[in-house]
Amino acid sequence: MTADASQELRSRMVARLAEAGDLRDPAWRAAAAAVPRHQFIPRRAWVHDGEGYVLAELPEDEWLAAAYDPERTIVTQVDDRVDARPGDRGTVPTSSATMPSIVLAMLDALRVLDGQRVLEIGTGSGYSTALLAERLGDDQVVSVEVDPAVAAAAGEALTAAGYKPRLVTGDGAAGWPAGAPYDRVIATCAITAVPYSWVQQTRPGGLILAPLAGALVDWGLVCLEVGEDGTAAGRLLPEGVMFMRLRGHRDPDGAATAPDLAGVQPEPALLDPHELVESNLRLWLAGLPIPGVVAGAEDLADGTTRWWLRDPATGSAACLDTPAMTVRQAGPRRLWDLVADTYRWWLKEGRPGPWTFGVTVTPGRQWVWHESGRAWQLPPG
Ligand SMILES: C[S@@+](CC[C@H](N)C(=O)[O-])C[C@H]1O[C@@H](n2cnc3c(N)ncnc32)[C@H](O)[C@@H]1O
Repeated sequence: MTADASQELRSRMVARLAEAGDLRDPAWRAAAAAVPRHQFIPRRAWVHDGEGYVLAELPEDEWLAAAYDPERTIVTQVDDRVDARPGDRGTVPTSSATMPSIVLAMLDALRVLDGQRVLEIGTGSGYSTALLAERLGDDQVVSVEVDPAVAAAAGEALTAAGYKPRLVTGDGAAGWPAGAPYDRVIATCAITAVPYSWVQQTRPGGLILAPLAGALVDWGLVCLEVGEDGTAAGRLLPEGVMFMRLRGHRDPDGAATAPDLAGVQPEPALLDPHELVESNLRLWLAGLPIPGVVAGAEDLADGTTRWWLRDPATGSAACLDTPAMTVRQAGPRRLWDLVADTYRWWLKEGRPGPWTFGVTVTPGRQWVWHESGRAWQLPPG
């Protein structure tokens, strides 16, 4: 591969991102034009074949095209595996090089200014870290990655590309106090609640940008401003994003199986789950009253679908069958009723958009709010 070939592809990627409106800030445009993204993309990547992920050795032309495709996320690790070989199969992506359109839209939303210090949680491939280092300088950037193998690969790629930001291998939920205070914190993994350490390590007036997890879908991107009083608050952005979860905020092992509620009396279900799956916003907000609940859907042998909810904390569970539209609910919390009630509230409010919701974080508790006054508690950060 010649340097010209990668340069040409990079220029085209930058032009496409600019046309799509994802590169409005000239400083990010210059950074995207400067960082050789292919150096952060391994030749071995996990490719979805319709049933699951398979580790493949990409041919050079495909690898290079993938590296400069603004809309392609490249899955670099699945099921936390570090020893995989081409042909191996897996299920859940655990590290990736996020598609450039999202990386740059998030960096734009971070509203970084020259001279500011940034803490990134989730180094991944190191590409977004390189953009930050290119834009702000090595000394202004700290990036934390939990997986030692992923961190090592990112470190090598950054060094080879000439960047020397501070890389930390560890749990990003703790931030990195030694580098504080930061002006900006950006997470590239989804959180069920904002780790309070991020608020503590951000200067008053600083911003925290993080993808949100949810009970029914991991979706939503919040930008919080840190106050003088140890709190942080801010609204969701108009466009949500879907990211893999921060380790430590994943669903508990073994929770992802349908509950057996055969002995529970079925009742008519008043909300069809197909209405919720029409949009990620609907799924996200309908899950607000049931944080920590695990959800799934299963196609049964008789052609019907079973939608289920399971609350590991209280043992409550719900199963809804379509097209019969019957629901069985057990335990202290009637999970499906809570979901349906929140969805109906949203319809009555006139289907408000994501930016009408926000998050407030205090030392002791945090919650999602809607500007109408309704609020939902989040787990402690
Ligand atoms: C979507 S990837 C990062 C994408 C990256 N910014 C890029 O464009 O290449 C998310 C990363 O977050 C990391 N991660 C998950 N939990 C973490 C934690 N508790 N602390 C730090 N990193 C974490 C994962 O290992 C994964 O590499």
